[in-house]
Amino acid sequence: MELVLIGSGNIATVIGKAFFERGIIIKQVYSRNLSHAQQLAAQIGSDAIDQLRQLAPKADAYILAVSDQAIGPIAASLKLGDQLLVHTAGSVSKEILANASSNYGVFWPMKMIRKDQESLGAVQIVVDGSSNSNTAFLSNLARLIGAQVALAGDAQREKLHLMAVVTSNFTNHLYHLASDYCERNNLDFSLLYSIIDQTATGIKAVDPATTQAGPAFRGDLGTMEKHLELLKHEPALLAFYRAFSKSIQEKNRV
Ligand SMILES: NC(=O)c1ccc[n+]([C@@H]2O[C@H](COP(=O)([O-])OP(=O)(O)OC[C@H]3O[C@@H](n4cnc5c(N)ncnc54)[C@H](OP(=O)(O)O)[C@@H]3O)[C@@H](O)[C@H]2O)c1
Repeated sequence: MELVLIGSGNIATVIGKAFFERGIIIKQVYSRNLSHAQQLAAQIGSDAIDQLRQLAPKADAYILAVSDQAIGPIAASLKLGDQLLVHTAGSVSKEILANASSNYGVFWPMKMIRKDQESLGAVQIVVDGSSNSNTAFLSNLARLIGAQVALAGDAQREKLHLMAVVTSNFTNHLYHLASDYCERNNLDFSLLYSIIDQTATGIKAVDPATTQAGPAFRGDLGTMEKHLELLKHEPALLAFYRAFSKSIQEKNRV
């Protein structure tokens, strides 16, 4: 199996290393910035290029892992014939690749990925191909790097991406604000790990509608007033507290 990586950022780096560790050959790494391509290529036994016209004419798949905004312009300058071309974005239609190759698709790792992380780790990859055989190929490729595979077309994947932002990026932002708050108030953030785990684990077993708790859910206005007072110099947390409490009350109103 031989792949070409177009891009050298977070996704190209982490999945590139995952492929390399499984013995999959990465023929080339392209970046508009040669030193970025060289940095990644050196780690995965690959050739670095900075011109799209230098792309090898034959590979089992070309993985376009660039910023969402760059996918269209780069695809517009590719003519890959029938070579399989995929992008890695959750919220970009696969059809953006249709003029670059007759075989195309999406290979979206549904995970927050940073280039400096140790390894890819457990991940679900959402795949979609322009034909059944492309979808099957991409599913196998995902399994080769230990991923769980999910299938979703453009419309479903866009909505899944939106919910991934809500459940992962937004939640992480709350952890970030809470961790800063703990630090400023001389509290150990790790004391919250068990309740964080309980919440995330709990919703796998039962509907989240049945696991809500807390002052807004109980209608405990006294405690909510105290919390609002404690947050009076914390504008970001105060705004979230008000918005979430309102939403919890509206959702659970009988
Ligand atoms: N990171 C995640 O958590 C994650 C998870 C799932 C899916 N994705 C998707 O994966 C894709 C890549 O994300 P990423 O996090 O790897 O991004 P990234 O780390 O910001 O890397 C972006 C890459 O795109 C290149 N690039 C940007 N604009 C370009 C242009 N105009 N022409 C040529 N190259 C350009 C950059 O080149 P330079 O190095 O020269 O700047 C870099 O190699 C995106 O579609 C994203 O939605 C990301």
